[in-house]
Amino acid sequence: MEIQHLELLNFRNYEHLIIDFNSKMNIIYGDNGVGKSNIVEAIYCLALTKSFRTTEDKNLIRQGEKETRIVAKVKERVVHNYELVLNDEGKKALINGNAYKRLSDYISKIQVIVFSPDDLKMIKESPSVRRKLLNVDISLLNNNYLKYLASYNKVLKQRNAYLKAVAVNGNSSMDYLDILTNNLIDYGLKIYEYRKNFIKELNKKIGEIYSKISGIEGLNIKYISSYSDESQESLVNLYKKSLERDLFLGKTNIGIHHDDITFLLPFGDLKDYGSEGQQKNAIIAYKLTEVELFKSINGSYPILILDDLFSELDKKKINNILNMLDKDLQTFITTTNVTFVKKSLRNNSKLYKIVDGKIEEE
Ligand SMILES: Nc1ncnc2c1ncn2[C@@H]1O[C@H](COP(=O)(O)OP(=O)(O)OP(=O)(O)O)[C@@H](O)[C@H]1O
Ligand SMILES: [Mg+2]
Repeated sequence: MEIQHLELLNFRNYEHLIIDFNSKMNIIYGDNGVGKSNIVEAIYCLALTKSFRTTEDKNLIRQGEKETRIVAKVKERVVHNYELVLNDEGKKALINGNAYKRLSDYISKIQVIVFSPDDLKMIKESPSVRRKLLNVDISLLNNNYLKYLASYNKVLKQRNAYLKAVAVNGNSSMDYLDILTNNLIDYGLKIYEYRKNFIKELNKKIGEIYSKISGIEGLNIKYISSYSDESQESLVNLYKKSLERDLFLGKTNIGIHHDDITFLLPFGDLKDYGSEGQQKNAIIAYKLTEVELFKSINGSYPILILDDLFSELDKKKINNILNMLDKDLQTFITTTNVTFVKKSLRNNSKLYKIVDGKIEEE
């Protein structure tokens, strides 16, 4: 998959920007705050109809304007025209001029993997951050995943509401609670299987990729779930055992909404023992492993975005990473310092210098 041509209208600090990209490496460089990340953010938005940096769509619209448009020619065997329009009324996604009624049918047609400085949260912050990232990634590979997740969350909400109602009324029917619990288990087991398989697949390669970057062997992702190795029956018992606590707290304490992952090295958990750089390398290894996994499942590479890749990494690690990128993989890198990239690699890349919302191709 490849973005050949991108046009931005009133997106962030760009009034009107047109860029033609290289099918391999694209290096977007310039000083802080000139609009480098905004370009890769636009690519991500076009793919997923939302940003990786903000939950407020209106932030994407250039200040003082009412609407933004992202338009691109995307090649996947043949070239298609993709377009995303964002304004007060919401968003509209089009392929070759045809608008999609449901965004969920449009999302994931452009497959993109992004590394951004925010992803360091993946190791440092709470499990909910890691679950969110897992959800985005797995849903890119499986259309059904988001549907199961939505169903699970709906039943979870109903169950929590019912637990609260029982606590207040005392005599409500437990049969209804059993139905909700069974539904929760059904959807939960589906999500669990998706997550378990996804992590199993990542673990086949992540150790090797991490050691190529960092020289440290043995990185492994551990999936932590209350559904681990449980059958439908034993889960019913788990929920029974937890019932008193659930009623007391008015919420469901067991389920895949508490799942987590950790990054383990032979010397311990990266969260507790890893340096900033080691953590960053592990997340980059995770993303590069995903790229390989997407390729093996879809038959073609996704697009790779590495936003602000170089900060906190030493030159050697940076070149270890860059050397690993396959020539068929279209990559976008943003950086303030292009001299970090070896000359031989620079010669094979297209460089874009950004100066205050304008581009200077070299
Ligand atoms: N909605 C908006 N309208 C106009 N300008 C905006 C909007 N949102 C962000 N900007 C501007 O975009 C610029 C930031 O762009 P961006 O995050 O792409 O910078 P960057 O080049 O990646 O910087 P850094 O090197 O610090 O990461 C800021 O100058 C900011 O004021
Ligand atoms: Mg930036």
